[in-house]
Amino acid sequence: MDSGLENIVAAETVLSDVDGQAGRLVIRGWPVEKLSASLGYEETLGLLWNGFFDDLGNSSAIQRQLGEARRAAFSHVGTFGPAVSVVSYLRTGWGLLKDDETLASAIALPAAAAVFTAAAIRELQGLAPIAPDASLGQAEDFLRMIRGERASDDEVKAFSAYLVTVSDHGLNASTFAARVVASTRAGLVSAALAGLSALKGPLHGGAPGPVLDMLDDIGTPQKAESWIDGALARKERLMGFGHRVYRVRDPRADALKAAVAKLPGTTGRIEFAEHIERAVLEKLSRKYPDRSLETNVEFYTAILLEALDIPREAFTAIFAMGRILGWVAHASEQIDEGRLVRPKSVYTGPVPEMV
Ligand code: ACO
Repeated sequence: MDSGLENIVAAETVLSDVDGQAGRLVIRGWPVEKLSASLGYEETLGLLWNGFFDDLGNSSAIQRQLGEARRAAFSHVGTFGPAVSVVSYLRTGWGLLKDDETLASAIALPAAAAVFTAAAIRELQGLAPIAPDASLGQAEDFLRMIRGERASDDEVKAFSAYLVTVSDHGLNASTFAARVVASTRAGLVSAALAGLSALKGPLHGGAPGPVLDMLDDIGTPQKAESWIDGALARKERLMGFGHRVYRVRDPRADALKAAVAKLPGTTGRIEFAEHIERAVLEKLSRKYPDRSLETNVEFYTAILLEALDIPREAFTAIFAMGRILGWVAHASEQIDEGRLVRPKSVYTGPVPEMV
């Protein structure tokens, strides 16, 4: 029995490889640092979905299909709500989409993620939703839909680098959940909803909002040590640190730090974050000398999304906008593999009385 399944291999995949000892992530042949610096959202979609759909087309065709699908998704905005949270709004919105295994259903998911997340953010701020501009790339249009004005090129690049960096990551909890549902042939939307529900937890994709809460609570570098000591004494988990697979630094942390450093006005915030990071790593290594706990992707995700003025309540839904590319690819790979996922359990309950 392996309750966390860490030693179980449950899929063969062409999509990504996580080497937790070397701190290396490869996504369809690309080291993540190179991928995030070189490819945009549409190109990454093409890379991950290639071979799973016959009529995908090149990145201009993908951009056009995503733009049209954003327009279609916008017709649902205002027909449901209110937005209790950004994730629940996205989950409800995705639930309205046609649920099959076609390219149209697949494309609708990332497109609708941008539209529904932007609409939920604006609704929670008491603002009217902004219609998509189908001629723009997904990253640029999303920032425009939340702000009401176009973002700078640097901001679009940083946001796009974020979405690409988190697009896939082996058999993490949400991707596994998506594959299990896909294996039942429930449809790509059902698989994505399973992924999103798993992603929402603070031990997985729900960590970056709490990372900012932690930084706010610490407030100044001088308070770092006592704050961390207090949190560890209360047995709290420090958000943005530790990982099931990585025993060294998560390579995505540095890819995102590099992306945020290119944004003007971020030097002071990065220095503060680095200070807290050093203090946390030192305390964790003292408390767990035999367990290497390092910085994970969520720490610099928080700094990057904050620098883009994205409210922290939306961070998990935005993570889903990146990771949906991986969920769809994995779900399609699982469908092609053709085997229902159905592990066994060991019964430890009461034995029926003999009659
Ligand atoms: N802060 C404090 N203690 C920690 C942390 C942390 N961030 N991470 C692990 N530990 C502790 C555990 O409580 C455990 O202590 P114990 O033996 O006294 O119970 C010990 O270190 C060993 O834990 P692991 O086996 O390494 O943890 P596991 O693999 O089960 O969990 C996880 C990994 C969930 C990511 C964990 O490190 C954590 O909770 N981190 C904080 C939340 C976070 O940042 N999540 C985002 C992960 S990245 C992603 O999913 C996209």
